[in-house]
Amino acid sequence: MPRLPKLSAPPLPAPLQAPPPRPGENGKRGPVEETKEAGIAVVDWVDERTSLSGAGRWLMFRKVPQGTNWFYTLGSATLFAFLNQAVTGVFLAMYYRPDPAGGAYESIRYVTNDVFLGQFVRGMHKWGSSVMVVLVFLHMGRTFFWGAYKYPRELNWVIGVVLLILTMVMSFTGYLLPFDQRAYWATIVGVNINGTGPLLGPYLSDFLRGGSEFGATTLSRFYAIHMLLLPGALIALIGAHLYLVTKLGTTAPPWQKAEAPQELREVEV
Ligand code: HEM
Repeated sequence: MPRLPKLSAPPLPAPLQAPPPRPGENGKRGPVEETKEAGIAVVDWVDERTSLSGAGRWLMFRKVPQGTNWFYTLGSATLFAFLNQAVTGVFLAMYYRPDPAGGAYESIRYVTNDVFLGQFVRGMHKWGSSVMVVLVFLHMGRTFFWGAYKYPRELNWVIGVVLLILTMVMSFTGYLLPFDQRAYWATIVGVNINGTGPLLGPYLSDFLRGGSEFGATTLSRFYAIHMLLLPGALIALIGAHLYLVTKLGTTAPPWQKAEAPQELREVEV
């Protein structure tokens, strides 16, 4: 088997390359040129001290298989939906009070009716959660039908399954937070369904309720899980997921025919 030639590193993108000298008036660079180059100087300054551009290039400039199409954007779309949830969630948390004696409901009412752009941000978060669930399922379908769960990507599939479960738990715990009638009764149904699971079911529903009664502890428990535990776990696992995507590359579509490497094709002729 002939050794394949080592691929050279991809070139730096144009904005990061050293600019050619551009003489302004009297052969000197003018203030416009200097301002334009200030950003590059900052990037250079940071890179000289951290060497982060190498990691950036490793992550961003990758060869992708022939036949890559729009279905490959579903993972990034899920990531974007997650970032939307993170940003809008931070603003909602600035107003939210996990108080079952009317405080939670009142804080949500206040955000919706009185805070500037509050209804918009709440809507982005509420609709964004459904968008993320739909996208994560579509992305999983794409990786399944493309056979991307096979060797060597089994671990990334397993991480993906955990990400799917965490996304669902995120939706479930968020649903209670407005603490209106619908949230309350829907969550009681959800917790009871969890309680019917074999062996662990009753322990799981007790854990979710924070005891045998549905009450104040349940709400603060759901809030802590929703805005601390799950986002932290999601960020860590998405990081591992993307590391493996970068390291292993993406799977070619199953209908794509393998091409012989250049040297072998030359030998055949
Ligand atoms: C928060 C949820 C998730 C995010 C943000 C995410 C993100 C990504 C991204 C950006 C990619 C590379 C581009 C692409 O192929 O679309 C990817 C690839 C992959 N993801 Fe996910 N993903 C998530 C959930 C899942 C789930 C639920 C599964 C399956 C159970 C999964 C399995 C995979 C696999 C196997 C690959 C490699 C694809 C290939 O080799 O072609 N991911 N993911």
